[in-house]
Amino acid sequence: MKVTRLSVNINKIATLRNARGGSIPDVVKAAVKCQEFGAEGITVHPRPDERHIRYQDVRDLRSVITTEFNIEGYPSQRFIDLVLEVKPHQVTLVPDSHDVITSNQGWNVIKYEDFLKEVIKGFQQAGIRTSLFVESDLTQIERASATGTNRIELYTEPYARNYAENHEKAISPYVRAAKWALELGLELNAGHDLNLTNLRYFSKNLPGLLEVSIGHALISDALYYGLEKTIQLYLEQLQ
Ligand code: PXP
Repeated sequence: MKVTRLSVNINKIATLRNARGGSIPDVVKAAVKCQEFGAEGITVHPRPDERHIRYQDVRDLRSVITTEFNIEGYPSQRFIDLVLEVKPHQVTLVPDSHDVITSNQGWNVIKYEDFLKEVIKGFQQAGIRTSLFVESDLTQIERASATGTNRIELYTEPYARNYAENHEKAISPYVRAAKWALELGLELNAGHDLNLTNLRYFSKNLPGLLEVSIGHALISDALYYGLEKTIQLYLEQLQ
């Protein structure tokens, strides 16, 4: 039985568009196609400098998302206002500083607990499910639970980096983290550097994994296989 949903992160489509200016490729059309080809969610990550997805893209996407809309980002006031305006199904909070190329760490929930509690409360009052991007550290996960968040998203870059050397060793901290999160009553997402090589093993072995969000590798694979075939290949990994 398949329980893990595939959310396609379309930031890379916007990056390609922005390289030339203009509107090709069209991110709204790409989102529609991803859903038509089987994606079970669309993720966007508007960064403060809008170098990938722009704030206006997020607004334009709202009416075409028929699956799950997930907006990720650092909760600046501008980001919070955008999310409250657009009202996606889920908001994933990441601790990115302005200048990072891509998300490269989970929250230090211990340090930012009060801030996160406040932000999470605001989103939940607006009917938006929250997810906190965290590493597999058990204490951080325990504090994440204390913020009142509905879900956590496990940052899988270390898993992806260590996968080739030793699958079991690479996944074991995540299995421990997942079990702990479930025990605390948290729901579970995961993402970062998941791909056609490492995804099946991760989804098969991680208890309670509800959603993966995948961008870089999936959009790159679409260059080789086409978007439709690529999404099917990723969905097969989650069977
Ligand atoms: N999850 C979060 C919180 C992210 O910031 C990103 C990258 O934007 C992803 C998942 C997807 O990572 P990747 O592009 O490596 O698949």
